[in-house]
Amino acid sequence: MNETMRSGYSWRPHANAAAPDFARSTTPAIMPIDPDLIPFAPPPQPLVGLPALLAFRRNYIETFPRSAYEQGTTRISTGLTDMLLLCDPALIQDMLVDRADMFIRDRPSQRALAPVLGEDSLLLAEGADWRWQRRAAAPTFRHETLLSFVPAIAEIAAQQVARWRHAGDASAEANVAPVEVGAAMIRTTLDVIVATMLGGAANLNVEAYGRELGQVLEGAQWLALFAMLRLPRWIPYPGWWRTLRARNYLRREMQRIIATRRARPSSRPDLLDLLVTARDAETGRHMTDAELLTNLLTFINAGHETTAVALTWTLWLVARDTAVQEQLVGEVRAVAREGAIEAAHIDRLVLCRQVLQEAMRLYPPVPALGRQPRVALTLGEHRIAPTTSVVVPIFALHRHERLWENPLTFVPSRFAPEAGKGRARCAYMPFGAGPRVCIGASFAMLEATVILATLVRAFRLRPVAGHKPKPVARVSLRLHDGMPLRVEPR
Ligand code: HEM
Repeated sequence: MNETMRSGYSWRPHANAAAPDFARSTTPAIMPIDPDLIPFAPPPQPLVGLPALLAFRRNYIETFPRSAYEQGTTRISTGLTDMLLLCDPALIQDMLVDRADMFIRDRPSQRALAPVLGEDSLLLAEGADWRWQRRAAAPTFRHETLLSFVPAIAEIAAQQVARWRHAGDASAEANVAPVEVGAAMIRTTLDVIVATMLGGAANLNVEAYGRELGQVLEGAQWLALFAMLRLPRWIPYPGWWRTLRARNYLRREMQRIIATRRARPSSRPDLLDLLVTARDAETGRHMTDAELLTNLLTFINAGHETTAVALTWTLWLVARDTAVQEQLVGEVRAVAREGAIEAAHIDRLVLCRQVLQEAMRLYPPVPALGRQPRVALTLGEHRIAPTTSVVVPIFALHRHERLWENPLTFVPSRFAPEAGKGRARCAYMPFGAGPRVCIGASFAMLEATVILATLVRAFRLRPVAGHKPKPVARVSLRLHDGMPLRVEPR
């Protein structure tokens, strides 16, 4: 097999070994590296051939080589694939922001995301098709609209508190029995998206929905792999039949929601109404039922799973760091006392936000994103063809040793306003960057802040001894073996 691998710096050379050649945020001096936060050893060289394929299928963040954590670019060219890994913030900005029009989503991402999110949805559409869908959905994500969701989110967070209290009551060991936090966060964020974006009308069976979505995400990894190998989509893979059934289940649920809404309009306009009534300014057309369906899939799936993942890792990090946990509780009590979190509290929950941002640095819910150029072009020193996948390995970027001081340490104060000065714009990007930046970023931060504040004030969180959670990349950063935590009522 004709294999070439090159990795190199596209930053200017070091002036001296001690001074990094890019601006980074200031964090407290020398901190010990936290071994718990090292989920695996990156391969010293890019994997190629069968080992690369197996690792990609198993857990694609394990394929990011050492150089992705140390250097600006890594090129991996084999007879089968040509890929450029990009961890240079200036080049990332060039691709995602400055020359965004020159790129489209790469084929493996397209193929992996299509069954999860729908083929022509906002997330996967390109050009004019994308633009009008983005405009149609935008009003839901305006600041004032988002703030109007806070009471509903606080109510759902309170229901989660009640469920954990109830589980504690029912347990023989009362407050020490571990709970499965990952599943609880999926349930909570799914409830939020249905209540806020679909007027609560969806009536989803949350457990069944979460289970079937998990199955579709399993299949997604195979589809990305097949796309990399340029294999046709129809080739079956292990679990193919089960995945197909799961995908049909999700689609049927979306059809049911659309039919219910068409039969009975909601009392107050929500995202679904906006999508139903949206009209393309250029062509005057409305969304077809197929487009509505794919967009509902996108907003429900992209809109809850990622936030659940962010909250799950956050709660684990907070459970391990009792000092940060007590500071958080102090902040929440100072701002909201024992009452429900309100819209007016959000801006004052500063530490809550920093903790979430730092958790998403270490465990970005979307651990990579990919593009390919529309035509052959040059990116930094690299010549790239329309068949080249240019991948931003966000997981490696956020732990990059030349961009972050003590990258393997949990330090929420990195995100204090002063500390971030001088940080390159695309060094931190859990929500992506440029025109395709996550439309739900502010919604997600608002929601996660309300839920985190409500839960830490109600419970003392403790890790379960001997359990070291392992991140597994399946489109989003899921967990290999769940996330049990002890939740003791305060
Ligand atoms: C912590 C939570 C979230 C994370 C980390 C996250 C991450 C991302 C990322 C990285 C992208 C860009 C992908 C790319 O450029 O290839 C994206 C796009 C998107 N996200 Fe999110 N997301 C989150 C929550 C949400 C929520 C709550 C919603 C909706 C309610 C949402 C809906 C979308 C949509 C529709 C897009 C496509 C935007 C476009 O292409 O114009 N996301 N998200």
